[in-house]
Amino acid sequence: MSILLAGGAGYIGSHTAVAMIDAGFDVVIADNLYNSNAAVNDRIEEITGTRPKFYECDIRDKAFVDRIFGENEIETVIHFAGLKAVGESVTMPLQYYRNNLDTTLTLLEEMEKNNVKNFVFSSSATVYGEESPYPYRETMKKGSCSNPYGWTKSMIEQILTDAAAANRDLSVVLLRYFNPIGAHESGLIGEDPMGIPNNLMPFISQVAVGKRDHLTVFGGDYDTPDGTCRRDYLHVMDLAEGHVKAAEYAASHSGTEIFNLGTGTPYSVLEIISAFERNSGVRIPYEIGERRDGDLPEFWADAAKAEQELGWRAKRGIDEMCRDSWNWQSKNPMGYRG
Ligand code: NAD
Ligand code: UFG
Repeated sequence: MSILLAGGAGYIGSHTAVAMIDAGFDVVIADNLYNSNAAVNDRIEEITGTRPKFYECDIRDKAFVDRIFGENEIETVIHFAGLKAVGESVTMPLQYYRNNLDTTLTLLEEMEKNNVKNFVFSSSATVYGEESPYPYRETMKKGSCSNPYGWTKSMIEQILTDAAAANRDLSVVLLRYFNPIGAHESGLIGEDPMGIPNNLMPFISQVAVGKRDHLTVFGGDYDTPDGTCRRDYLHVMDLAEGHVKAAEYAASHSGTEIFNLGTGTPYSVLEIISAFERNSGVRIPYEIGERRDGDLPEFWADAAKAEQELGWRAKRGIDEMCRDSWNWQSKNPMGYRG
């Protein structure tokens, strides 16, 4: 039996492929390479000694997805395939709704047709919305999102919940990620954003490697301990290992279950800069700028449910996260392109 990683060539999917192979699963990746590079599969093979079967395809293409299910004994689908830039989603909402919702619907329809029962979804802490008190718990009501990207996650959660309520054979696990950073310890795979990075760690890494001259800290006057925003950063390999547990859980349960995947500990932007400097030996020039629209001052996970029910807990700390981000970026200054 195999696991299908839809969008598996991307940042989180490629790390999950490594964790899945390490755990003994057969991995099939399907990705249109919109935001990733085919070289990822060579790197996964270099790390694990196993080359995942790879399909270059759009997950919205029903006939192609049908073919993948026909050619492989897929037990579980993990759905990473989505557009994910928050700011871009505000200017291109239709593309975000079309891509993120259609990929999900196509997978669900083809799974039903091909009798595939387990679905694990890459959701986000963003579904807790702007009103929820932190730490965020899975039992809280979802809130209103500040951008179309967040709404796609919230809507897809609803679609999956409704599909599992109507089809008792379907098992759905919704994983609400907090802020993944870091890279595989080999430095062979990592986050490789196109253009100017939106997220903090890739931006810091690109400053460190000399691609950008300084970081702008978005706001220094928040009501937080040092005035900068705090987030629950977690190592991408911990997150990847969470998917192994989630896939095992999905295969032995039915209905819909939600899990936060975070550490439960927040760090501020200034703390991340100083941890990065400590672990790389490189100084990060920065200036405090304006607040970024839509940013919440702080939030973090209550990570107890994942520990109790999945047996998963983040093991790697902030130093490993920064060390591994730097290891990847310094060994691959141009990402997979150079
Ligand atoms: P990523 O962009 O690196 O990976 C997504 C992959 O999906 C890419 O390889 C892209 O080419 C592929 N893809 C997109 N649309 C596709 C389509 N129609 N058909 C086939 N492939 C398609 O992003 P990531 O950081 O690895 O995130 C994976 C998932 O986790 C996304 O759904 C994202 O929204 C979610 N998520 C990410 C974060 C984060 O901070 N990185 C946080 C919360 C949730
Ligand atoms: N930040 C800066 N400067 C930068 C980039 C980011 O100061 O150049 C700050 C942000 O203001 C924020 C923190 O660094 O306080 C983290 O920002 P990221 O963009 O890395 O992450 P976010 O918390 O904004 O967003 C992440 C995911 C989204 C998800 C959201 C909520 O990228 O997919 O968490 O879960 F929707």
